[in-house]
Amino acid sequence: MNVGILTGGGDCPGLNAVIRAITKICVGEYGYQVTGLHNGWRGLLEKDISSLDPEKVSDILNLGGTILGTSRTNPFKDEKGPERVLASIRELNLGALVAIGGDDTLGVASRLYKEYGINTIGVPKTIDNDLSGTDYTFGFDTAVHIATEAIDRLHTTAESHNRAMVVEVMGRTAGWIAVMSGIAGGANVIIIPEIPINVEDICDLIKQRAAKGKKFSIVVVSEGVKLAWRSGREKTVFSSEETDEFGHARLGGVGNELGKIIEKLTGIETRVTILGHIQRGGTPTSHDRILATRYGVKAAEMVKNSQWGMMVALKGDDIKAISLDEAVSKTKTVPLELYNMAKMFFG
Ligand code: F6P
Repeated sequence: MNVGILTGGGDCPGLNAVIRAITKICVGEYGYQVTGLHNGWRGLLEKDISSLDPEKVSDILNLGGTILGTSRTNPFKDEKGPERVLASIRELNLGALVAIGGDDTLGVASRLYKEYGINTIGVPKTIDNDLSGTDYTFGFDTAVHIATEAIDRLHTTAESHNRAMVVEVMGRTAGWIAVMSGIAGGANVIIIPEIPINVEDICDLIKQRAAKGKKFSIVVVSEGVKLAWRSGREKTVFSSEETDEFGHARLGGVGNELGKIIEKLTGIETRVTILGHIQRGGTPTSHDRILATRYGVKAAEMVKNSQWGMMVALKGDDIKAISLDEAVSKTKTVPLELYNMAKMFFG
């Protein structure tokens, strides 16, 4: 059996740990061949590949990024794409295809299984933690850790200068990084895409805090938040209107707009930090290395058991196989109870 592996979408700490685990188990335990497909689905379309073996994947466990490269290529964008995928699979003699990715990459894997009968298996990756069916995606813990450290550092400088600090973190439609790092960092306001708050209400919280003698504030905001005003006006901030092959425009910059509004409405000097890709780069936390390794081992087992159209998932303390379709059917958003808990510490 020849097992193809690809990593798609935004990179994420822990990808190499998954590649290492799948390769070591598939080659070492099951005697399969493993082929790395370069740069996501593009590698399959263009047959841009390299063979993987335990030697090639040693010493990459703690390495950020992905040794296979990644892209946001969507084979379904082009009418001939699925045909080309089938042809490549035949030519490369791939008996299984393990796709490591978020909702876009795994959405393709799910369609290839359902519509073309391709033997796909998914591994849930994204710092955004917004995939359904799994308690956590790997990479999320690292991103939260980085964002929390940034908030801690901003805290001391905010306090020294009596400033409001706006910290913009990633999170397109789900505010997981914001809510978790905000709780861990003791943020005074957390704003996430799922739960709109008017800018006037945000400023009232900061003003009330200042009236109590706390002249500094930390405001954590997800990049995907739509700014809203009491008048009913709304605004989404894009850093570019250009869309990727899955139709997503590039976000980023809502923090800058919010910072200006806070300074104007509260009279408190305000600074903005946009964490951006720092959240995605570098070495994974031990938690993510372990989760990614467990996912990789389970994915290899699922190849052996021919569990096609399935994805590895964390359910409590166990790693299970769930339907890929279920995982990509809807975005996993932050539950209201969790946000309301975080809200108890606002102001
Ligand atoms: O991987 C998801 C994500 O982190 C989103 O939160 C963010 O909007 C996007 O990636 C940005 O990725 P890139 O700049 O690499 O396209």
